[in-house]
Amino acid sequence: MSDSPRKILVTSALPYANGSPHMGHLVEYIQTDIWVRFQKLRGHDCIYVCASDAHGTPIMLKARELGITPEELTAGYSAEFVNDFADFGVEFDNYHTTHSPENEEIVGQMYAALRASNDIYTRTIEQSYDEKEGMFLPDRFVKGTCPRCKSEDQYGDACEVCGATYAPEDLIDPVSVLSGTTPVKRESEHYFFRLSEYEERLRDWMKVAKLDRNVVAKLDEWFDAGLQDWDISRDAPYFGFRIPGTDDKYFYVWLDAPVGYMASFKHLCDRTDGLDFDAYWNADSDAEVYHFIGKDIMYFHTLFWPAVLKGAGYRTPTSVYAHGFLTVNGQKMSKSRGTFIKARTYLDNLNPEFLRYYYAAKLGPTIEDIDLNLEDFIARVNSDLVGKLVNIASRCAGFISKRFDGELAEVLPEPKLFAEFADASTAIAAHYEAREYSKAMRLIMALADKANRYIDERKPWVMAKDEGARPDVQLVCTQGINMFRSLMVYLAPVIPGVAESARAFLNESSWHWKDAGAPLLGSSINKFKPLLTRVDPKQVERMVEQSKESTPVADNQDDEFISIDDFMKVDLRIARIEKAEPVEGADKLLALTLDVGDDKRQVFAGIKAAYDPETLVGRHVVVVANLAPRKMRFGVSEGMVLAAGPGGEDIFLLSPDDGAKPGMRVK
Ligand code: 2FM
Ligand code: ZN
Repeated sequence: MSDSPRKILVTSALPYANGSPHMGHLVEYIQTDIWVRFQKLRGHDCIYVCASDAHGTPIMLKARELGITPEELTAGYSAEFVNDFADFGVEFDNYHTTHSPENEEIVGQMYAALRASNDIYTRTIEQSYDEKEGMFLPDRFVKGTCPRCKSEDQYGDACEVCGATYAPEDLIDPVSVLSGTTPVKRESEHYFFRLSEYEERLRDWMKVAKLDRNVVAKLDEWFDAGLQDWDISRDAPYFGFRIPGTDDKYFYVWLDAPVGYMASFKHLCDRTDGLDFDAYWNADSDAEVYHFIGKDIMYFHTLFWPAVLKGAGYRTPTSVYAHGFLTVNGQKMSKSRGTFIKARTYLDNLNPEFLRYYYAAKLGPTIEDIDLNLEDFIARVNSDLVGKLVNIASRCAGFISKRFDGELAEVLPEPKLFAEFADASTAIAAHYEAREYSKAMRLIMALADKANRYIDERKPWVMAKDEGARPDVQLVCTQGINMFRSLMVYLAPVIPGVAESARAFLNESSWHWKDAGAPLLGSSINKFKPLLTRVDPKQVERMVEQSKESTPVADNQDDEFISIDDFMKVDLRIARIEKAEPVEGADKLLALTLDVGDDKRQVFAGIKAAYDPETLVGRHVVVVANLAPRKMRFGVSEGMVLAAGPGGEDIFLLSPDDGAKPGMRVK
C-alpha cells in the first residue's frame, strides 16, 4: 500500500431514535470509533458519520401515544445519543437525522433514477388492515397463534417458539396489537424495486467487497433462495418521506435509512471547505466507504443497499463489516437481572475507557456474539490497564521528576528492547486494520509484561539508594517511560482519554502512529498524576442495582418471574371514583377522577365497554399509586386502575367496597 493518505468514509448503523442507548449499542459505536481513530492516527483522511433513524411506524405510534410529534420524539432521543456517545469518546465528524432536507433530496433523486432505469414498478398487494385505527399493520403489529406449533401470542412475521416464518395472514386468530380488533385484508398499490434483476451485479460486488466469510455464507444462502423484489412503499398514515407523485404513499423507512449515511455526509460537505460529496459517492470514486453494522441487518446492507446504489448510478460500499450481539454474564440482557444497562447508567458509575478497552479485548472481525462478563470486566481492567500498563509509568515517573528535574536521558540503555516495541507496530496495525482488536490487545499486553519485567529486573528503587548508580536510574526510567509511551500510542484508538493524559504527562502536543517507533529523549516531562484508578466491584454492583430500578415491570418480557423486591415497589392503594367521563376521540377509555386519600388523581382506564360511567361514581377500586405519570394523547394519566377479565365488555373492577377507605394500602 502506498504512503499517501487514503480517503475513507465510515458509518455506524443509524440508531432508531425511540429509545435510550445501551451497552448493546455501544459495541458497534465503540468498534467503529476505534477503527476510525486508528485510521486518523495513521494519517489517513478518515471521516465518521452517523445519524438518527427517525422514520417508520413504531416512531409514529410512540410519538402519538406520548402526545408529541415524531420530530419532537426523535429530537429528544437524538440528543441523548449524541451526549452519551460523546461521553464514551465516540467522536463522529457529523451526526444528523434521516428526517432531513438532504436526505429527502437524495432519496428523491435516487428514486427518480431508479424509475428512469425501469427498476421500480407498482403492484397491488393485500395486507392486514386495522379498520378501527384506519391503518395497514406492519407484521410486528399483528399477533396470533402460530400456524405451525400453535403457540399463542406470536408476532405476524415469525414464531418465537418454533422459529417458523410466515405472513401475518397465516396466523390463527390474528389481532391488531393497536386496537385488539381482528384485522381485515385490504388491497393497496405498492412500489417495488427489482432486486431480482441484481443477482449478478451483487455477486460481482461480493467478490471485491472483502466480506467476512460468515457474511459471504449468508449471501450465498440468499442467492440460493432467489432474490425477491423489494416493497419500498408504505401507505399513510406513516412517518417518512412522501413518494413524489403520490398523495398517500411513503418510502419505507429501510429505503431512506441507508441513504441517511450519504445525507449526513452531504450535510458535513455543505459546511466544510474542500470536502466534495461526489468525490466519495460517484461511481468512479477512489474513496473507500465502510459500513459497520450488526448481523441482524445484513440483508439490508449487503443486498438492498448495494443494489439501490448501483441502480441509481452511485458507487457501492468498499465493504460491510458486521458484528455479533452482546450478551451480559452469558445471557441476553435482562431488565430484571439489571443487565440491561443504559449507556448513561454505566457513565454514572464507571470510567467509559474501561468499557472501550474491555470490548476491544473481546472483539474480532466476525459475527460471533461477544460477552460482557462483569466479573471478568473488573478483573481484566484492573489487571491489564491499571496493574500492567499504568504501572510502567508510575514506577518510573517519580524518579525522573524528583531526581532529574523531569529530564529524560539522552539515550536509551536498551535500544534492542525498545526496537521490539517499535517493530510490533506492523503487526498491531495489521490487527487494527482487520478489526482483530483482541489480537492487537494481546500483543500490546504482552509487551506491557515485558516492560514490567525489565523494570522488575533493574529495580530503579534499589539503584536510587546508591548515589553512584544515579545516571543508571535516569537511563532505566527513560527506557521504561519510552516503552510505556509506545504502548500508549498503540492504545490511543482504544483509550483516547488515558492516551491524552499520558501525552500531556510526556509534554507532547500530538501523536502520530509513527511516534511509537521513535523514542522521546532528552526532553522534559511533567509531573505524573495517576492515570486510572482500579474498578471497585461496588461500582459495578451499584450500576446493576440502578439498572434494575429503571425497569418498568411491563418490559420484563424475558423473565417469567418478578422478584419480591420488584413487587414491593408497587404501591397499591384503595381509591374512590369521584368522577367518570368518556374521553373524546378514545373509544375504550374513561377519564376517572380518583380520591386516593391524600390527593386526587386523574387516571385513564380502558373500561368504557364494560361500565356505564355513572354507575362507577362512589365505587372503590384498587390503583397502582406510584406509577410514573404518563403523557397520553388526551392528557396525563397518574396511576393505573386494576381490573380482571379478558377485555371488552368483560372487564371486572376489583372493587373492595366493604369498609375500605381511600388511601388504604393494599397488601
Ligand atoms: O436496525 C436499526 O436499528 C436501524 N435503525 C439501522 C439503520 S442503519 C442504516 F441503514 F441506516
Ligand atoms: Zn410456532
